[in-house]
Amino acid sequence: MSELNEKGICLLKLLADGKFHSGETIGLALGVSRTSVNNYIKALQSIGIDIYKVKGKGYCCVGGIDLLDAKKIKISSQSKHVDVKQIVDSTNQYLLDKIGDIEKGHTCIAEYQLKGRGRRGRTWVSPFASHLYFSFYWRFDSGIDRLSGLSLLVGIATVNALEKMGIQGVGLKWPNDIYYQNKKLAGILIELNAQATEACHCVIGIGINVRMSQEQGALIDQPWIDLNSLGTKQIDRNELSAYLILELERLLSEYEQHGLKPYLERWFNLDCFLNKEVNVLLADTVQTGVCRGVNENGALLLAVEGGIKEFIGGEISLRLLHK
Ligand code: BTN
Repeated sequence: MSELNEKGICLLKLLADGKFHSGETIGLALGVSRTSVNNYIKALQSIGIDIYKVKGKGYCCVGGIDLLDAKKIKISSQSKHVDVKQIVDSTNQYLLDKIGDIEKGHTCIAEYQLKGRGRRGRTWVSPFASHLYFSFYWRFDSGIDRLSGLSLLVGIATVNALEKMGIQGVGLKWPNDIYYQNKKLAGILIELNAQATEACHCVIGIGINVRMSQEQGALIDQPWIDLNSLGTKQIDRNELSAYLILELERLLSEYEQHGLKPYLERWFNLDCFLNKEVNVLLADTVQTGVCRGVNENGALLLAVEGGIKEFIGGEISLRLLHK
């Protein structure tokens, strides 16, 4: 299924309250036959929505669903351009396809991604309404040259937004993974569309684990954690989206003027690997050293025999030697 039609969305909103709805009530609300109701239910189940049927009572969506709401996000963030989609291939691709027609700050958030993508060609598992799949567009008129520290800045903006939600203790792993107690909480994928001398168009994709089921978690090949296991408060994805928009707008505007320098101290405070021994993996090579933070260009500074070595680029990854 590539998108939910109007009736599918209507059914979703009906079941979102977590209560029982009879086939007859649903049929009336959607203006369709009982057989069609069955087909719509199957379509929602096929994208991972947990709906069950009890004879004599009807259909129920276990636990209810807290759906994304563009109106709420626009009011809290003061942003005019927020597209909330039920199903997309990838929220990043959605914005990349619109470059030229959209303004800075245009945001796309989806309940479900058919082809959610992660860094280094990986898939980003994107079950329905479980997590946050968020993309944000920005244009840098200065071109691509000064953007090497951008991914670090986006990591800081994400931590700021989480802190505004009352979530403390979140850290960053260079260049832009969001970690909590050595487990991945969120990831960032920045995709650029740029010609050498012209403005650089950036789509900043952020995926945050909100409520991971054991089944979904088993598909992930690294230690992970979700927001729901961090605190007592249920996470409101609309509120979190609004904070992300506000923080990204604020930090990106400042970054355009001053670069990463004003944020270096904040990075040092959030850096999970500072002063830790790591392996730096790049293609087939491994370099062991001690992390000494980053410089103004966003390069990782690694203390190795004979001095400090700088590393920069999205294809590099770090592995902690002692946990
Ligand atoms: C990573 O591998 O750590 C980066 C993951 C980025 C996932 C987000 S979800 C929203 C946006 N759309 C995508 O297809 N990917 C990013």
